This record gives sequence, structure tokens and C-alpha cells, in this order.
Amino acid sequence: MHLLRTCAALALYGQCAFAGREVVKRNDTESFATDLLHESLEWLDRYYDNERGYLFSLDAAALTHETRASVWYAAGLLARNDADDVEQAVRIVNNVIGGQFKTESEQWFGDYQIYPEEPTVGTEQYPPVIYNSWDPNWRGFIGTTFVVMLEEFPHLIPQDVQSYMLESLYNTTIGDSYRVGGVDDDNLYPAYSNPSIMRAFVSGWVGRRLSDSNMTTAGEAYAKEIIDLFTRDNTLSEFNSGTYAGVSLFALTLWAKYMDEDSLMGQYGGDMIRHTWTSLGELYNANLKNVAGPWDRSYGFDMNKYLSILALQMWTLVGKENAPVNSKPYAMGHKNDFAISPLIAILAPFHNTLVPNTTLSSLLAFPSTHKVTTSAFSPPYDTYPRNITAWLSPNLTIGAESFAENVIGGPAKNPSSFNPAVAQWARQDGSVGWLSLYAQVQELDVTVGEGMLELTYPKGNSSSGFSFLVGTNGWSGKRDVRGWDDVEGVKVNVSGTVDANYTVSFNGMRGGAGETINDFEFWNFTYGMPEGSREIPRVRLDFELA
Ligand SMILES: *[C@@H]1O[C@H](CO)[C@@H](O)[C@H](O)[C@H]1NC(C)=O
Ligand SMILES: *[C@@H]1O[C@H](CO)[C@@H](O)[C@H](O)[C@H]1NC(C)=O
Ligand SMILES: *[C@@H]1O[C@H](CO)[C@@H](O)[C@H](O)[C@H]1NC(C)=O
Ligand SMILES: *[C@@H]1O[C@H](CO)[C@@H](O)[C@H](O)[C@H]1NC(C)=O
Ligand SMILES: *[C@@H]1O[C@H](CO)[C@@H](O)[C@H](O)[C@H]1NC(C)=O
Ligand SMILES: *[C@@H]1O[C@H](CO)[C@@H](O)[C@H](O)[C@H]1NC(C)=O
Ligand SMILES: *[C@@H]1O[C@H](CO)[C@@H](O)[C@H](O)[C@H]1NC(C)=O
Ligand SMILES: *[C@@H]1O[C@H](CO)[C@@H](O)[C@H](O)[C@H]1NC(C)=O
Ligand SMILES: *[C@@H]1O[C@H](CO)[C@@H](O)[C@H](O)[C@H]1NC(C)=O
Ligand SMILES: *[C@@H]1O[C@H](CO)[C@@H](O)[C@H](O)[C@H]1NC(C)=O
Repeated sequence: MHLLRTCAALALYGQCAFAGREVVKRNDTESFATDLLHESLEWLDRYYDNERGYLFSLDAAALTHETRASVWYAAGLLARNDADDVEQAVRIVNNVIGGQFKTESEQWFGDYQIYPEEPTVGTEQYPPVIYNSWDPNWRGFIGTTFVVMLEEFPHLIPQDVQSYMLESLYNTTIGDSYRVGGVDDDNLYPAYSNPSIMRAFVSGWVGRRLSDSNMTTAGEAYAKEIIDLFTRDNTLSEFNSGTYAGVSLFALTLWAKYMDEDSLMGQYGGDMIRHTWTSLGELYNANLKNVAGPWDRSYGFDMNKYLSILALQMWTLVGKENAPVNSKPYAMGHKNDFAISPLIAILAPFHNTLVPNTTLSSLLAFPSTHKVTTSAFSPPYDTYPRNITAWLSPNLTIGAESFAENVIGGPAKNPSSFNPAVAQWARQDGSVGWLSLYAQVQELDVTVGEGMLELTYPKGNSSSGFSFLVGTNGWSGKRDVRGWDDVEGVKVNVSGTVDANYTVSFNGMRGGAGETINDFEFWNFTYGMPEGSREIPRVRLDFELA
């Protein structure tokens, strides 16, 4: 951290790159992280409401404010430490803790407001609706940010404010302990990787800091469950998610950096980061600047067009230009996640030392055609571990997973973010074409091979259908798509037990058959079964670059 701070200070005099290169082994992590810190803060500065000591909502919703982004911004202000940055950071922290929920008997105790103008959660007019009027994961997001501030910048935070933050962290840990998957509409199981890793950490850290052995023990016990799940095949349960793999890597960095060897988190954190990056590196195609599918939870279909937290980590590893980030990140889909950048930048000098060399080079150059097989497991939703297969070639990648679950749309029960079968290809203009199976079933069997993808619904019947969401063509490509021949950059043959006739419809921003998904417009290619068919629904796609 010391390095980034020095670098941030020197940047004012244009010496940052020099200072960075001198101290880091692997070229440019310091200066890349500093770029990310400054660029994100310059964007967030524009949203800062100096009168209130909060950020305005990044969605500019009639000048309301937002808690979580404010706290991420405050961490960045401490890292930048320019002009009155520290003073504003302290104001934000005090404001946010002032609004923290204080009634111990309520399910949302110790959580933080979504926005300061909100009515009192739990009143008749503002019922407590988990993930809506209150978000249980914000304990983890805000709690971990407070820990980063206390660990990295204690010299900047007045003693009384530090005590107030610890009191806040104590309450948030108690409140977080109310969370039990399957109880009170909550879904926090160890397999819900990103918040579960944060929970174990905050409990373990606060327990040690305040000498509360019960909290320390609870953190270790939860960490053990997460680790057991991870070491089964060295994968996160919430597998390969541009957004949430990023959060999990952030939280695992806290395990590795701030927990000693006497903690399981300290012991395993570093290896879990190495394994997670190894898997991401194998699935990454540097020509397409995308991690191949399947994606358990994705907020977009092309990383060049939506802002993923993983891409911010890549920015600190290989620089903005080599990462899947647009030159104007705030114009991308899901752009509000750009607000987490300060945390990624602050931790990069440590985190990046754990990224394997092979992974780092695969972020810059696609190695050669290869296949990846692995698995991930999310009890209690999975009956068996999900089996993942991907085939990656220079300009075409195909990745899918077999699963047997008791829900549709993955553990988050969200077909918009669960993408169990995906193909992506390079188009002549350098843009990326994509196709994703829309999740409609609890069980899927997949075969992925050279240029092919075969999908079977083992429990399907003649009413089943396969819907493929296909990205719109490039800037100069055909605006209208009636069949596969109109899809730019790829030739597709379809066979199987499905009816060879298919329908194509459009979901757009301003019209068509339905709405966009994750801000992306798409063509919906749907195959049904022949009437009265007794066959198992199966479809095979053969791809060739065009
Ligand atoms: C913590 O919770 C207690 C109730 O258990 C409450 O009195 C106190 O104000 C809370 N502290 C903060 C910082 O919210
Ligand atoms: C110990 O911690 C657990 C989990 O955080 C909590 O449920 C329990 O109430 C705590 N017990 C005491 C005595 O603090
Ligand atoms: C690091 O430096 C080497 C040699 O100058 C260069 O080839 C490589 O691309 C650089 N790596 C990054 C991440 O910029
Ligand atoms: C990368 O390679 C360098 C030089 O071979 C080595 O010193 C370093 O430890 C490696 N880093 C990792 C994370 O494996
Ligand atoms: C994944 O493969 C394992 C080992 O072959 C098998 O036991 C399991 O049932 C498979 N999972 C699914 C969902 O098919
Ligand atoms: C991949 O696509 C690029 C850009 O269209 C092209 O230059 C290159 O030759 C292609 N590579 C292969 C192996 O097809
Ligand atoms: C197919 O299965 C679904 C759900 O399992 C069921 O609702 C439907 O009636 C079945 N259709 C036929 C034609 O058997
Ligand atoms: C496809 O649909 C057309 C028009 O509805 C019909 O004439 C044709 O027989 C169908 N083909 C098959 C293979 O079902
Ligand atoms: C795709 O089209 C089919 C057939 O019209 C429809 O049933 C389905 O709901 C559509 N899927 C999406 C995600 O819009
Ligand atoms: C599609 O089928 C045609 C005719 O059989 C064949 O010539 C072509 O190579 C196939 N393309 C793919 C991508 O399999």
C-alpha cells in the first residue's frame, strides 16, 4: 500500500510511472493501479455532493444519494489524499454509520441503508423486502471497505472515527450472523461465494481486533465450509462470473493480506486466488478480450461492452488498453460497478503478486487452441457438481456446463444472468459476436468440442424449446436478421431432434418482441420439438468462422 500512496503523491508531479517501475517486479502494476484509482475518482468526484457528504446516485435518480458507492469513494479519497480528500472521506464514513440499522432484533440489524433518503425499513409503508428495500450483502461490501480503510490508512483517520468504525463493524458482524441460507428468505450458503467470503473475513477480522473469540471462531468455521467447497476442484462455486469472480478475488485478497497463518483464511487465501486466476486465464481469449462461457452469473454477453469487476483487475495487471474496458468506462453496460475501482486499485500491488505468470501472459496473448474441463458445485441447488467444458480457438470459443439443479436460472434463480452455454467469435471489424442459451430448465447435458456444441434436456419432452440469444451485428453489419445466414462472422449448422424450423425475434431498447437483457439487444433463435415427438430434446450447433 505504501507504494501506491507514494505513487499517487508523485503522480501530481508526473513522476508516477517512474516511481512505480522502480519498485515493482512485474512492470507496471503500480502505475496501472494508480491510473485506475485516479480515473475512477475523477469520475466519482463529479457525483460528490459536498453539501450532504454522500455521492449522488450514479443513476442520477432525481438527486438522491447512494451509500455503497459513497463508501468505495471514501476509500479512494484516503488513497488519493489530495486537498480535502481525507476530510470528505471521514464525513462520508460518519454519515453512513449514522444511518446504519441499530435495532438488534431486526433481521437487517447492522446493515446499511441503500440510500439516506429511504423511509424506515420495516414500517408498514416500507416493508422489509430482502434484496429490495434492504440488501443483506451490503454489510459485507461496506464492512470490508471499512476494514481496508482501517488497515491501509489508520494514520489518516481520527481515533474516535476509528472506534466508531469498529463499533459499526461489530454490529454488522452480529447482523450478518443472522443470515442462514433457506431461512427468512435468505440465500447465504457457503456456495454463494462472494458474500460468503466477505462474511467469513469480516467476522474473523473483527473478532481478532475486538478480542471476541466467538466472532473469530464463527469466521473460521464459515471459512472452513467455503474452503472445503473450493478445494473439491479448486474452483469457486459462483464460477466464472465477470462481476462476481471479481468480488470473490477482492474478498480473498483480504483473507490473504490481512489474516495471519493462524487463520485458515490466511493459509488458503493466496492459493485460492492463484487457482481462480489459473482457471480464468485458461478460459480467457485475449483476441476477443473475453472469458469464455459458461458464466454462472453475468451482467452482460461481451466484456468489451459491459463493465465487469474482473476487467478492472485486468486493468491493474495489463493496463487499461489491454483489458476489456472501453476508453470511456462510464458508457459501458453495468457501469456503476466502476465505483468499486478504488478498492481494486488499493489492493492491486498485493493481489497482483498472486496472479500466476502463465495467467498474466494469457491476458496479453492467446496461447493456442485448447480445451478446458473443470467443475463447480453449489449445494443445496446442485444435485451433482456442474461439469464445465470449453473449447477455445484464436477466433472462436465455445463453453458450456452440464447441471442438475432444483431451480431454473442457477442458484440466483435468474435466467438473465445464468448462461450455461455460450459461444463467442471474432468478426472482421474486430468486434465480438456471441450466442447464449437462455436458461429454461433444471437439467442440461452438454458436449463441447472443436467448433461444436450439443445440448440435451434429459427431462425434456415435446413441449421443450431451446432459445439462443444472439448478439446484434457490428456497426456496418446487417441491421435485420432473419436466419443464421444473416449473423455476422460465423456460419452455423443446426441438427438434432428439434424441429428444423425455427423462429427469430428481436428484443430491443425501443421495440420488438421483448426487452433487452443486461442492457444487450439480441435476436432470439428458438427451436421447438416436432409435434408429438417422443425423442429427448437435443440440439447440435456446428460453427465455422465466416
Ligand atoms: C450498535 O448496536 C447497538 C444496539 O445493539 C446500538 O445501540 C448502537 O447505536 C449501534 N452502533 C452503531 C454504530 O450503529
Ligand atoms: C456467537 O456467534 C454466533 C455467530 O456469529 C452467534 O450466532 C451467537 O449468538 C454468538 N454468541 C454469543 C454468546 O455471542
Ligand atoms: C512488460 O514489459 C515487457 C518488456 O518491456 C513487455 O513486453 C510486456 O508487454 C510488459 N507487460 C505489460 C503487462 O505491460
Ligand atoms: C513469475 O516469474 C518470475 C521470474 O521467473 C518469478 O520470480 C515470480 O515468482 C513468478 N511469479 C509468480 C506469481 O509465479
Ligand atoms: C459431472 O461429472 C461427474 C463425474 O463424471 C458425475 O458424477 C456428475 O454426475 C456430473 N454432473 C452432471 C450434472 O452431470
Ligand atoms: C482471427 O481474426 C483476425 C481478425 O479478423 C484475423 O486477422 C486472423 O487471421 C484470424 N485468425 C485465425 C486463426 O483465424
Ligand atoms: C412436458 O413437461 C412439462 C413440465 O415437466 C409438462 O408441464 C408438460 O405437460 C409436458 N408436456 C408434454 C407434452 O408431455
Ligand atoms: C417449416 O415451416 C414451413 C412453413 O410453416 C412448412 O411449410 C414446412 O413444412 C416446415 N418444415 C418442416 C421441416 O417442418
Ligand atoms: C424467445 O422466443 C420464444 C419463441 O417466441 C419465446 O417463447 C421466448 O420467451 C423468447 N425468449 C426470450 C428470452 O425472450
Ligand atoms: C454445414 O453443412 C454444409 C452442408 O452439409 C457443409 O458444407 C458445411 O461445411 C457445414 N458447416 C458447418 C459449420 O458445419
